Amino acid sequence: MPDFIDPDIVKKIENLRQELHRHNNRYYVMDAPEISDAEYDRMMRQLIELETQYPELSSPDSPSMRVGALPLKKFDSVKHTVRMLSLDNAFSDSDILNFDRRAKKELMTEGEILYTVEPKMDGVAVELVYENGKLVIGSTRGDGETGEVITSNVKTIRTVPILLQQHGNKEKAPARLEVRGEVVICREGFKRLNEEMSSNDLPLFANPRNAAAGSLRQLDPRITARRPLEIFIYGTGDVTGMNINSHWDLLCRLKYFGFRINPHIKQKITIEGVIEYFRELEKMRYELPYDIDGMVIKVDSIESQVQLGTTARSPRWAIACKFKAIQETTRVLKIEVQVGRTGTLTPVAHLETVNIGGVNVNRATLHNGDEISRKDIRIGDTVLVQRAGDVIPEIVKAIDTVRTGREKIFTMPANCPFCNTPVVQDEGEASLRCTNDACPAIIKAQIEHFASKKAFNVDGLGEKLINQLVDKGYLSSFADIFYLDKEKIESLDNMGSKSAENLLESIEKSKNISFSRFLYALGIRHVGEHIAEILASKYGYLENLYDAKYDDLKDIKGIGPVLAKSLADFFICEKNRKRVDQILKCGVNIYPQEDNITPTLDGKIFVLTGTLETMTRSEAIQKIKKLGGKVSESVSKKIDFVLAGHSPGSKIEKARALGVYIIDEESFKKIAGA
Ligand code: IVH
Repeated sequence: MPDFIDPDIVKKIENLRQELHRHNNRYYVMDAPEISDAEYDRMMRQLIELETQYPELSSPDSPSMRVGALPLKKFDSVKHTVRMLSLDNAFSDSDILNFDRRAKKELMTEGEILYTVEPKMDGVAVELVYENGKLVIGSTRGDGETGEVITSNVKTIRTVPILLQQHGNKEKAPARLEVRGEVVICREGFKRLNEEMSSNDLPLFANPRNAAAGSLRQLDPRITARRPLEIFIYGTGDVTGMNINSHWDLLCRLKYFGFRINPHIKQKITIEGVIEYFRELEKMRYELPYDIDGMVIKVDSIESQVQLGTTARSPRWAIACKFKAIQETTRVLKIEVQVGRTGTLTPVAHLETVNIGGVNVNRATLHNGDEISRKDIRIGDTVLVQRAGDVIPEIVKAIDTVRTGREKIFTMPANCPFCNTPVVQDEGEASLRCTNDACPAIIKAQIEHFASKKAFNVDGLGEKLINQLVDKGYLSSFADIFYLDKEKIESLDNMGSKSAENLLESIEKSKNISFSRFLYALGIRHVGEHIAEILASKYGYLENLYDAKYDDLKDIKGIGPVLAKSLADFFICEKNRKRVDQILKCGVNIYPQEDNITPTLDGKIFVLTGTLETMTRSEAIQKIKKLGGKVSESVSKKIDFVLAGHSPGSKIEKARALGVYIIDEESFKKIAGA
């Protein structure tokens, strides 16, 4: 740093930065420029010249960062403070009405619930974290818990504020503000981008969503800077220092701070209005400059959102209504039968590649033999295929009017195509099953599930390696994974010494696992991620679940008789217990469930006053903290809830005066699921 920098230079740089941030917002976010493009460019050039001349005055918050920082070697990862959930889907009016009915039941109200509805942008979810008004981290959604840090890349997006807009001293930016939104590329920009890719002899992007995802994951931000990315903000993660009562108010406040909010959001409408708007939006979808694949319905009141809470995967206060699938015709080349981890035989149609709504499709599931007969789908048929959102493509029907007579009728095999064991059909089930425990297809699929991201998360142990390891006889059970050595791994295709070491390291790392992931990994029929979490928090330890009886299990909320039977059968079976013991003998450490609780009260601050009836004060505090909430001693505007028991003190008066929500013990128990 030189001894002296002319304070006028410092001031000039500061002024230019401030003005450029403001004009950027007026132009890109508000669509109301005050100066010409040429004037903007002139100011930007002047700033870059000054920053080059005085590198000691450079700043990560400068608008010049939009041209792209230096390339990275790899992306760091970051744990989201609040998990980035996804949304459940509604495909019909009755799904929407059911969602409304469930919400009313849960909120115990017969009155209308007000919803805010938003176009569901078809892009890439990102999180932007602001500390005291400055953008500090931009990240991808990743697996919902941990994302990749792409700060330099998001800074290149003109509609991402690098500094929040402050309006004098009227309202200061919150101390911490995590916003979430969708990064998209407009259809027009996408067309131009692909033209450019084509003229540079580079592979084309299949659709705007892939183009947005690919552009965000560039290690060189200068490449990202040249891509026509835009962002729309639709919600928040962790927020400190901002009190909001409704989703619509939240969006307005975010807009005030300089974020771009979709102009087609409709606020506070009843469920009839929601259905009506869904139709309108569906008609409008191709007139919008960017792709949308549906509409998101959100309960507007934040208090009701908290009360409704979330499941492991998605909020109960929001749902995505998908537009009707896009359909195309193509030809069935052959039908192949796959065998999954539970032994179920699934026929899959291999199709002549067809582009449906921007995605190349060459496979479609046919579900089971009954479905093939019902739809009368034959090999060689011309068929109508549809893709609904991200769901696996499926065949709607065969177009029998164009049959030539050379089409072949397909019948499901009587024996497993992988081990030749005769297949069985369980009572009341449409699917056929291979019951051979030693069937290589079942073992491969089970191990793939066991090692997958949501289970043991053995990085690098995917389908191709597992196939080879099973075929060579190195893997025939879950526990065998932990006995793999360097020599065995190195004997596989394309596996050198370094990759073998990496895989061994991932295997070692995977040995520390939460109870729910462990349960999920076992691949017990009907036990998905969410059920595994319910079981893990109910039973705490594997030993407890070993002894659980059908009658206890079936009464657990969310379980029911089919699942209870599947679980009881699994743990009663000596062979299964042995398999579990073998895994534990390999040094696998199952840690208790606490870490896996869904933080439904994340960031919410409570004040307790008065005496509670059915729990002690410290039990209530523990519950709040366990669900991610905080407890404070004094009431202020920052407080989300005052939990009032009998004979509350003066805190309740203060809460009333400040308009802070006051809840009784009953409502608290609902919010906290106690
Ligand atoms: S809200 C907790 N609003 O859809 C709920 N999501 O399956 C978080 N998306 O990953 C999502 N437009 O990337 C919400 N207006 C909108 C959205 C939207 C697009 C995406 C989002 C999310 C996925 C949910």
